[in-house]
Amino acid sequence: MSETIIVPKGLYGVAVSETGIAKSTSDGTLTYRGYSVEDLFENSSFEETAFLILYGRLPSKKELLSFSSALKTNARVPEQIYGIMKNLRKDAHPMDVLRTAVSALGANEHRLSSEEQKQSLIAKMPALVANCYRITNGMDTIDPDHDLDTAANLLYMISGGRPEKFDAWAFERELILYMEHDLNASAFAVRVIASTLADVYAACTGGIAALKGPLHGGANEAAIEMLLKFKSPDEAAIRIQEMLARGEKIMGFGHRIYKTRDPRAQLSKQMLKNLLKEKKKEETMYELCDAVEKKMWELKKLPANLDFYAAPTFYTLGIPIEVYTPIFAASRIVGWVSHYNEQLQDNKLFRPDAIYTGPNKLDYVSMDKRS
Ligand code: ACO
Repeated sequence: MSETIIVPKGLYGVAVSETGIAKSTSDGTLTYRGYSVEDLFENSSFEETAFLILYGRLPSKKELLSFSSALKTNARVPEQIYGIMKNLRKDAHPMDVLRTAVSALGANEHRLSSEEQKQSLIAKMPALVANCYRITNGMDTIDPDHDLDTAANLLYMISGGRPEKFDAWAFERELILYMEHDLNASAFAVRVIASTLADVYAACTGGIAALKGPLHGGANEAAIEMLLKFKSPDEAAIRIQEMLARGEKIMGFGHRIYKTRDPRAQLSKQMLKNLLKEKKKEETMYELCDAVEKKMWELKKLPANLDFYAAPTFYTLGIPIEVYTPIFAASRIVGWVSHYNEQLQDNKLFRPDAIYTGPNKLDYVSMDKRS
């Protein structure tokens, strides 16, 4: 066996896989399969970007139609899964309900082929996400509307009403930004599980578990909770300074890769401005965010990440806060499945070594002799 290599904590700066799916760079660029996220944000749809990420190229018109139609055909979640979700505590976080639901779906669909499983999981995520929110809030479950595309459908199922066209378009832009991000913590979790040859539901259940944490996807909920406490940009700047002085982390800031700017955050920031204008709302939320962003740069040289601007955008769209992280999962499922596929194309079990620091050569002590 070769000598053990000790890598930095958190695998900082260590490449553990090759990937052809997405590329992010420290100076603030992001591409999916070679296309800039700015280009896709402006021109593409959820379904088209999902096809690109999954299959590595933009679809023809016929391929896109067939892909979208397969998503619609598979979008309904069986009542049995809702039954399991309804049996969980009503005060559970929707992310916990979602994680359980995806795991339960795996038990239900174990007879499907691997390709059918992936298609079913991606197609059902919007209904699972919307209904994990509805169930934990004592509302009736809702089925997808066959006439709506993925983004509009998700908004529809969360609110129970058909969304305005602009709202659905804006929401779809955010989903495109959330769809994939190379080897982030949840994608890595997915790849580790995939490397054991477990099924796609198992791998994505692990992805959801990793995404829930506030250092990853949970940051969008934490960011809006913080923003809502500030009454003015001046107060926001002062409070941020105080929080930093107390050694607190400011959610929605910093990134393992992006050190000067997160390109997704900047696109989302512009979207927030446009949305407020479209809805003829005051720009207070935008001004608060801008003040926090400026203060964070001044004091810590940390850029806002996507979660910081996606959260107020969702808030402006009237989306309930507890479903922000599940929404992230509804889009990132595409990235996870792509990583699952890529891992299996050239698989090697992830099984790192560890430096043992515990005690040695202890003798077993029977119960009556333990102090
Ligand atoms: N607030 C205050 N200080 C911070 C923050 C923050 N948000 N982020 C990093 N720092 C500090 C770190 O504590 C560290 O300080 P130290 O050197 O004195 O210990 C320093 O800045 C450098 O941190 P990094 O090493 O660059 O951070 P790392 O790559 O380990 O972590 C992470 C990245 C987890 C995203 C971190 O910035 C963080 O906790 N941010 C808040 C949570 C968040 O917004 N997560 C969302 C990520 S993006 C996404 O999921 C879409």
